[in-house]
Amino acid sequence: MNFEGKTAVVTGGSRGIGRAVCLELAKGGANVALCYAEGEASAQETAALCAEYGVRAIALRCNVASEAEVKTFMDAVVGEFKRIDILVNNAGITRDGLLMGMKEEDFDAVCDVNLKGAFLCMKAVSRIMMKQRYGRIVNISSVVGVHGNAGQINYAASKAGVIGLAKSMAKELGGRQITVNVVAPGFIDTDMTAQMPEKVREGLLSQIPAKRIGTAQDVARAVAFLASDLAEYVTGQVLCVDGGMGM
Ligand code: NAI
Repeated sequence: MNFEGKTAVVTGGSRGIGRAVCLELAKGGANVALCYAEGEASAQETAALCAEYGVRAIALRCNVASEAEVKTFMDAVVGEFKRIDILVNNAGITRDGLLMGMKEEDFDAVCDVNLKGAFLCMKAVSRIMMKQRYGRIVNISSVVGVHGNAGQINYAASKAGVIGLAKSMAKELGGRQITVNVVAPGFIDTDMTAQMPEKVREGLLSQIPAKRIGTAQDVARAVAFLASDLAEYVTGQVLCVDGGMGM
């Protein structure tokens, strides 16, 4: 896939799936701007790894749940690269718990980052992409957003929400060569899932027809496809990258 001359913004690019997405896009020649909540060293390491592909890459701290910070971040990206062609809304958090015991602040925190964060970033790039008459947006959802999951009502709602955001924006801006799609990963081996008890991991693994846990690169390749010109007639779609788990 060729991304030469393109600028990609990846939220939550300091590690895990976000880092793999940055690298996959950089490998194709995209300049990369990534943001992160914490872990500056790791974020700078992602940028340095991207630069090894001969592209320019920057890593900036930005809380995607803050409209002011998102504006500052996007302004900095445009200042540096003059355009934004690709946006990958990957930043995400979990605050798991059953409905009965879930605190309002845990619901709000997850929706603020996962759902409102995606909305703010989409809004911030929309004018730029409309002017360019070109844009590729990929929201990272989850199989949990498609099927629901006990103990993750906040997370599932936020991840279902980013599907609604994508389909609506796809309808609003489809005529401007802007596509908006969703990748819904299944069980992927990252820091986010590393804390999972062994019994839960085994239980999940038994539900995956592919008989293995996914890698961040499995997800990144799907994102790269949807961000590429190979997918120019694909919009408003949800691509599950889950080894068949959600079938
Ligand atoms: P991770 O926890 O390893 O990385 C999350 C990234 O988001 C980090 O770079 C972090 O700094 C950033 N971030 C968190 N809050 C932020 C904020 N307020 N503003 C800006 N950046 C923020 O997570 P992982 O596993 O790489 O997941 C990435 C995405 O994929 C998330 O949206 C997650 O919900 C989704 N996902 C992950 C799955 C998995 O099995 N790991 C499965 C399905 C979806």
